[in-house]
Amino acid sequence: MTYSSEFPVTTSQSQTHQNPPPIDRLIQPQNQPIGTNLGEPYLRIEGVNKSFGSFVALREIYLDVYPGEFVCLLGPSGCGKTTLLRIIAGLEQQTSGRVIQGGKDVSNLPTSRRDFGIVFQSYALFPNLTVEQNIGYGLHNEGRPKSEIQAKVNELIDLVGLEGNAHKYPSQMSGGQQQRVALARALAQSPGLLLLDEPLSALDAKVREKLRSEITHLQKRLGITTVMVTHDQAEALSMADRVVVMDKGYIAQVGTPHNIYQEPNSPFVANFIGIMNFLKGIVLASNQVCCGNITLSTGVQVLEPIHSNVTIAIRPEDIKFLGEVGAISSPLLDRPNVLIANINSLEFLGAGYLVNVSLEGDSREEILVNLPIEIARKINFNSSQCRLALQLPPELIKIFPTA
Ligand SMILES: Nc1ncnc2c1ncn2[C@@H]1O[C@H](COP(=O)(O)OP(=O)(O)OP(=O)(O)O)[C@@H](O)[C@H]1O
Ligand SMILES: [Mg+2]
Repeated sequence: MTYSSEFPVTTSQSQTHQNPPPIDRLIQPQNQPIGTNLGEPYLRIEGVNKSFGSFVALREIYLDVYPGEFVCLLGPSGCGKTTLLRIIAGLEQQTSGRVIQGGKDVSNLPTSRRDFGIVFQSYALFPNLTVEQNIGYGLHNEGRPKSEIQAKVNELIDLVGLEGNAHKYPSQMSGGQQQRVALARALAQSPGLLLLDEPLSALDAKVREKLRSEITHLQKRLGITTVMVTHDQAEALSMADRVVVMDKGYIAQVGTPHNIYQEPNSPFVANFIGIMNFLKGIVLASNQVCCGNITLSTGVQVLEPIHSNVTIAIRPEDIKFLGEVGAISSPLLDRPNVLIANINSLEFLGAGYLVNVSLEGDSREEILVNLPIEIARKINFNSSQCRLALQLPPELIKIFPTA
């Protein structure tokens, strides 16, 4: 099938690079946090590298975090998220590069002379101290008057929703409550920067979701600049103003949750955030690729040379279901990028199905398609004759160079 693109021709989306340049210098305007004054960053990570012996844990990290912004460091296990957070806190010394906070170079300052509060995955509370003693610990060490400490502790207990628990010990509290204490303790000295390392990952799903929104509301209310580490993409997308996707010690992409999800700049980011189908393709023309004997039109200009191998990507929810073959008429089938597929398996998701299908044609590629429940109800999945007509809308297809 052929198709003349009616969509605006833009540059290729593929910006993957082996030795990434300082990513933050490449941030496009659409990556900028909404509602953030892009004057001076509050926190600047400048060319940070970290090696443990011969192992390189972080390479050329450049990142600006603006006042009041909530930034999530997201990536698979071992990609360097905690190492970067610990360098920001001074708990780890960078091999090279600088950390600037509030306009001051803090790269070589000890932890005690930096201005941050931190919450870890394991609540790390003092087991022999009560809730109020845990929260007031830092203020007490600063030698603040008792009445001031008590007033601040009371205020924080209210703020994190722990009224009536001031005299309990950590062992008498649930995981979610302990994490609230840890958060209150991190905020007690009114730090300029809040650092969170997987603060919710030890909690069960319901508590985690509740605390997610509580933390984001609290963060916005206090306006405190926050950097949170997580390997949970749903957490990052729902909480952050901007997400920093990391892979093997470097920054793969920085952007708003929307931007990262809609415009991933590499197959790695596309695969890590949400679900993405990948198909092997070959470039036929500047707006056309083929997958086996199926020709697909693309909504953007393909910059890779003709005949080169590319990866075609599309999200399961972006694939349109046109109907069962036999039940639909030819005008629908004549649309661009219509494929016929056979069902392999179904996964019931409650609000719909995630359907694994094989494309007819010589590629026999398998892809996942999201079918909302009202559409799925009309399909006779049990019939061996069941063949689905699907459309891959040209404007929703992404093309990446094959590595
Ligand atoms: N003190 C250390 N000595 C040697 N290697 C280390 C040290 N700390 C971290 N690493 C290594 O550096 C890499 C990054 O570790 P880091 O803890 O930053 O990962 P992470 O992204 O936080 O992972 P996770 O999601 O599992 O917590 C890992 O390969 C880890 O083994
Ligand atoms: Mg970690």
